[in-house]
Amino acid sequence: MSGEVGHAAGQGTLQGSLGELISDADLAGDSSPPYLYPDYVATRLRAPRRPLVILPHTLSELTGPAFGEDAVGELDHDLTRQHDEEPIGQRIVVSGRLLDVDGRPIRDQLVEIWQANAAGRYVHEVDRHPAPLDPNFTGAGRCLTDSDGRYRFVTIKPGSYPWQNHDNAWRPAHIHFSVFGRAFTDRLVTQMYFPDDPLFDHDPIFQSVRDPEARGRMISTFELGLTEPNWAHGYAFDIVVGGAAATPLEH
Ligand SMILES: [Fe+2]
Repeated sequence: MSGEVGHAAGQGTLQGSLGELISDADLAGDSSPPYLYPDYVATRLRAPRRPLVILPHTLSELTGPAFGEDAVGELDHDLTRQHDEEPIGQRIVVSGRLLDVDGRPIRDQLVEIWQANAAGRYVHEVDRHPAPLDPNFTGAGRCLTDSDGRYRFVTIKPGSYPWQNHDNAWRPAHIHFSVFGRAFTDRLVTQMYFPDDPLFDHDPIFQSVRDPEARGRMISTFELGLTEPNWAHGYAFDIVVGGAAATPLEH
């Protein structure tokens, strides 16, 4: 379920030679992380070694099908109501707007999330770290944006979990997001973090986004307006597809 679990092969052997392959363009300007960031060990194996070939959108891609109302179930946005009982954890509302490069709302588009449970455990065969699974939490949800480009999820705050990238490596708590922009070919996968996480400075995935402002765009904000009395904390997280203010994507 996570993009990073179990990717530790080759650690400690290629740092010097591959580090030279990071281009200047990767390290300046673009808010996206470079394809190759040696501290994030999995990128050493999957980073492209040749220049990318850009394929322009065709008419069929730009006019492809939108998602209909019946594509998403009534409770798909509420990860706390997918089982007989409620999951353990801090209940949270996560909401924001999906925006295009010009700041316009992207309507009727699919937003999907996946995350670990409150103990930091994924429901995934690769995740075997010794934290409990929660029988009332699967950790996947989806919804459509409304006419204002807004999405809303109800879930529980995910826990931090260890990964094998380096010694004593722990991921900051995060929720994975997949969104579509104006076309299916505009799919963007990113991670949403929580404010003031002490693990930010130690996480190569977070740090692979080199621009501090761009890193800040991956961090949600606690918002009292989304917080519901006696029920749930609220976090705001807007997602911008493309442009100078883009939410950094995950390669
Ligand atoms: Fe993850």
